[in-house]
Amino acid sequence: MAQFKAGILGATGAVGQKFIRLLQDHPWFTISALGASGRSAGKPYSEAANWIESTPMPESVNQMEVRNCTSSEFGDVDFVFSGLDSTVATEIEGEFAIAGIPVISNAKNYRTDPTVPLLVPEVNPDHIELIKTQKFSADGSGWIATNPNCVAIPLTMSLKPLYDAFGIHSVVVTSLQAISGAGYPGVPSLDILGNVIPYIGGEEPKISAEPLKLLGKLENGQVQHAAFPVQATALRVPVINGHLIAVNVKLNEKPSNISKVSELMRSWKSPIADLGLPSAPAFPLHIYEDERYPQPRLHADNENGMQTAIGRIRGGDVMDVSYIAMAHNTIRGAAGGAILNAELLVKKGFLKV
Ligand SMILES: NC(=O)c1ccc[n+]([C@@H]2O[C@H](COP(=O)([O-])OP(=O)(O)OC[C@H]3O[C@@H](n4cnc5c(N)ncnc54)[C@H](OP(=O)(O)O)[C@@H]3O)[C@@H](O)[C@H]2O)c1
Repeated sequence: MAQFKAGILGATGAVGQKFIRLLQDHPWFTISALGASGRSAGKPYSEAANWIESTPMPESVNQMEVRNCTSSEFGDVDFVFSGLDSTVATEIEGEFAIAGIPVISNAKNYRTDPTVPLLVPEVNPDHIELIKTQKFSADGSGWIATNPNCVAIPLTMSLKPLYDAFGIHSVVVTSLQAISGAGYPGVPSLDILGNVIPYIGGEEPKISAEPLKLLGKLENGQVQHAAFPVQATALRVPVINGHLIAVNVKLNEKPSNISKVSELMRSWKSPIADLGLPSAPAFPLHIYEDERYPQPRLHADNENGMQTAIGRIRGGDVMDVSYIAMAHNTIRGAAGGAILNAELLVKKGFLKV
C-alpha cells in the first residue's frame, strides 16, 4: 500500500488531537502538516495545543510548526482531514477543494450539499460516487467528503438493518451527550457537574436530517433521501466520552416477534467487512443481552472506539421497537469515522498519491 501524506486542519482542537492520536501508527497515512488559526500558526505544535488526550503527545508532531489553513501552505500533502470550527470551515475547506486538495471533513458545513457525500462506510459506501459530480476544481482533483454528526452515526448504524428489513415509519430519539462533544474548553464545569443540560444548540436538526441522507438511495448521481420523520431531543450529561441514545422506532412492517429484531441486528453484515480497511471494526454493531448495558464508561472504547453498542431491545405499545445505542463521539463520531472514510476513499481509488 502506498503511503499518503495527510494534513490536519483544526489540529489543535479536540477532534484535531484525536486525529493525531489515531494516525500516529496508521499503516497508510502519515501526518505531514498541521494547521489551525492565526493564534496558533507559526508556533511549535506543543506550544499551540493544549493537549487533552490521555496518551502523550507523539514526538513526531510536538516540534512541527503549525501552519495557517490556506492551500498555499499545504502544497506538500495528498489530502487533508478537517476538524475545523464550523464558523470557518465553509471558506477554508472550499478553498482547499478549489485548489485541488481533497478534504475529509468532520464539520457540518458541507454535509447537506447535494454533491457532497455524507458517509458512514458501513451504511452508504456507494454514496462516495457523488464526488464525481463535484465542481470544486476543473480537473476533479479537489473534492470534499464528510462524516455525520456524532449522534447521527450510532442512530443510523442501528437503524440500517431495520430500515432494510422492515421499512421505517417514524423515529423518536433522545441523546445523552458527553461533554467532549462540545470541544475544549467546552461546557463550564459549574454548569455540567452533577447536572443535566436540556439543550444543545443546533444539534436536534442535524440528528433529524442526517440519517435521511445516509439511508437515501443513490440514483442518477443524486441521493433520494429516506422519507420518515425523526423527532430528536439532545441533552448534555456529565460523561466524558460516549453519546448514549434512547431510540424508539415505528416500522412500516411489524416483525412477528421482537426477538427477530435482535437476531437481525446481531447477524447484520457490513458491506465493507471484506475490504481490509485498517480502522474498520470487526463487529460494527454489538448487541448486549445484559439489560445494564451498554454504558459509556464501560463500552465507548470497544473496538478502538469504532463500534456502536446496542442493548435493551424491546417492543412497546406506542412504538414497535425501542433500544439503547452508544458510540464514542470523538472517535466513531468524529476523527475515527473520518479516517475510516479516508480508507474507503483510498480503496475505491478516489484518494491517490
Ligand atoms: N467534539 C466532537 O465530538 C465532534 C464530533 C463531530 C464533529 N465535530 C466537529 O468537528 C469540528 C471541531 O470540533 P472540536 O470539538 O475539535 O472543536 P475545538 O476543540 O473548538 O477546535 C476547533 C479547531 O478549529 C481551529 N480554528 C478556529 N478558528 C479558526 C480559524 N479562523 N482558522 C483556522 N482554524 C481555526 C482551532 O484552532 P486554534 O486552536 O488555533 O483556535 C482548533 O484547532 C467542529 O466543526 C465540530 O462541530 C466535533
